[in-house]
Amino acid sequence: MTQKRKILVTSALPYANGAIHLGHLVEYIQTDIWVRFQRMQGHEIYYVCADDAHGTPVMLRAQQEGIEPEALIEKMNAEHRKDFEAFGVHFDNYYSTHSDENREFAESIYLSLRDGGHIEKRTINQFFDPDKNMFLPDRFIKGTCPKCGTEDQYGDNCENCSATYDATELKNPVSVISGAKPVERESEHYFFKLSDFKDMLADYLSGHVQPEVANKMNEWLDAGLQDWDISRDAPYFGFEIPDAPGKYFYVWLDAPMGYMASFKQLCDREGLNFENWWGKESDSELYHFIGKDILRFHTLFWPAVLDGAGYRKPTAIYAHGFLTVNGKKMSKSRGTFINAGTYLEHLNPEYLRYYYAAKLSDGIEDIDLNFDDFTARINSDLVGKYVNIASRTANFINKHFDGKLLPESDMTHPIATGGESESIFEAFEQREYSKAVRRIMHIADITNEYINEHEPWVLAKDPEQKEKLHQVCSRSLHSFYIISIWLSPILPTLTSKVARELFGLDRDFLWQDLKTFPKTINKFKHLARRIEPKAIEAMLTAAKEGLTMNEETTVTTGPLADDPIKDEIAYDDFAKIDLRIAKIIKAAHVEGADKLLQLTLDIGGETRNVFAGIKEAYDPADLEGKLTVMVANLAPRKMRFGLSEGMVLAAGPGKKDLWILSPDDGAKPGMRVK
Ligand code: MSP
Ligand code: ZN
Repeated sequence: MTQKRKILVTSALPYANGAIHLGHLVEYIQTDIWVRFQRMQGHEIYYVCADDAHGTPVMLRAQQEGIEPEALIEKMNAEHRKDFEAFGVHFDNYYSTHSDENREFAESIYLSLRDGGHIEKRTINQFFDPDKNMFLPDRFIKGTCPKCGTEDQYGDNCENCSATYDATELKNPVSVISGAKPVERESEHYFFKLSDFKDMLADYLSGHVQPEVANKMNEWLDAGLQDWDISRDAPYFGFEIPDAPGKYFYVWLDAPMGYMASFKQLCDREGLNFENWWGKESDSELYHFIGKDILRFHTLFWPAVLDGAGYRKPTAIYAHGFLTVNGKKMSKSRGTFINAGTYLEHLNPEYLRYYYAAKLSDGIEDIDLNFDDFTARINSDLVGKYVNIASRTANFINKHFDGKLLPESDMTHPIATGGESESIFEAFEQREYSKAVRRIMHIADITNEYINEHEPWVLAKDPEQKEKLHQVCSRSLHSFYIISIWLSPILPTLTSKVARELFGLDRDFLWQDLKTFPKTINKFKHLARRIEPKAIEAMLTAAKEGLTMNEETTVTTGPLADDPIKDEIAYDDFAKIDLRIAKIIKAAHVEGADKLLQLTLDIGGETRNVFAGIKEAYDPADLEGKLTVMVANLAPRKMRFGLSEGMVLAAGPGKKDLWILSPDDGAKPGMRVK
């Protein structure tokens, strides 16, 4: 391994007034994949986040729900944590901006900025809601665009002509909160003099942001840096400014400090030295993953605030694009505004991780979640290519070679090469996940072609080909092992199962495992199921109706979890099975058999003799006269007690817990079940 790096990573802090949705998850999944990749290299890495708890929307929502803001943010915090965990997004610490640590940072940083001469007071004119008795943020004022005359536009810009303006310029303004006509009022505000940092920011442009972001920043710098309004008047949910009673820090001032506060809490818990990570002399790396909508806050204000208060600046800011669903902005009415919780009730979270990875690059272009494409990718790539390698070969190794793979020395050069590994490593490092996925799937394709060519299922029938069979399956499974390591940052749960259950490791994969050859495998268990289009439909309907199913209907425990549905079959496969209604005309104990009952079945004029393993579950007398369903064309089986000519259908784990099937009233013996 190269040198051990010290890395601190953050994702943007989600607002505490709403649920996590599939749009948010682009970012948290993108970040989590990168963090897991770095962790697999053995670096010292921490990933922290928090809820962004302050601001007017949180305050108003709490009022609406009739609870204190503290109660609301606590409830949302628990929900957010649960959603992230379900998607495998693992934080080393998840906190809240409404914390003592954050208050201390907000106060001390503000005081340094003030003492450094970067804060200025100014009286401004602002809209005030006379009913609600509060100043109105732009988002809570609507009116007619002063430029193009379109009605119903927000107080900061027009969606029709994209003009930006001051809320006080709107024609016919109304307060979104009360419907009252807002009045202009004077108020003293605190401003951060961003232009003091112009040279520093111009410098910061090169090397710390993506090229397309640097272009934007250049435009902002050229347009001149306006002072930034960092105060809000009471009532406001946030931190009061130390030297200004009744004035609060604007939510965006203390929000990024939440990164520090969350890390500080982690440091205190784990005995890390905060200074080593955030101090001016820090030798560690710091990365913020964010969406392109909040670039200005992270690439201008935040570095300037840090610089002014004597802290280190981020090593880099990595922005991503926005999620569209089926080519359009997420929308409640189209049913494409899908919350994390709704998705989880219908689909496997790792499928979304895989899909996003397959689409993500290092740029800021938007990414589209198209459900047909999603289904096809999961079913063909993940299940059809990757998992299929193991399902086509593992059982031969277990059955014919006692789980032993051919030793490294006996294998001709492996299918997955070191050169390929290097480019996949590079792609992950550069956040070019779509490139990584393409290369990984290319190796999966080659492996499947290799299996097709050598047909282990044919080799297995010929004892003379045993060596060859061993060779083909070992090489394929080695390839499966390598691919699993490569996919680990993307599919942590699935590959953890592969590492532990199939390859018998007592831990998850590390990148260095690429160098070793697995020696044995355990029994192969079903790894991943195809997506049924109806699951997607159900999710979209639920999203549209804002429905959430009750807990019991989610399959985390119970028969489906214990005994997953088998691989899909074609209708023709099913049609081969001839099921008939049968009447049990006689049921009897069998001498010497402790599990079996002997049943005589009438299938419409003909009778069949069947031995059924239901002795513990049924009294023979209760069965006589009952209708049931039998497999009528099953090859007869000679048993110790006689010939069994078919099978009756029953459900349940066994012993006492078995229930034979019976048709609804009206079915007659001999009728075909189809
Ligand atoms: N609270 C601020 C961030 C403060 S960071 C100090 C915020 N919160 S948010 O909940 O609106 O968004 C959190 C992150 O999710 C942001 O980086 C945002 O860009 C991202 N996304 C929110 N909706 C998204 C999409 N539809 N698509 C992709 N990312 C999205 O902004
Ligand atoms: Zn307009």
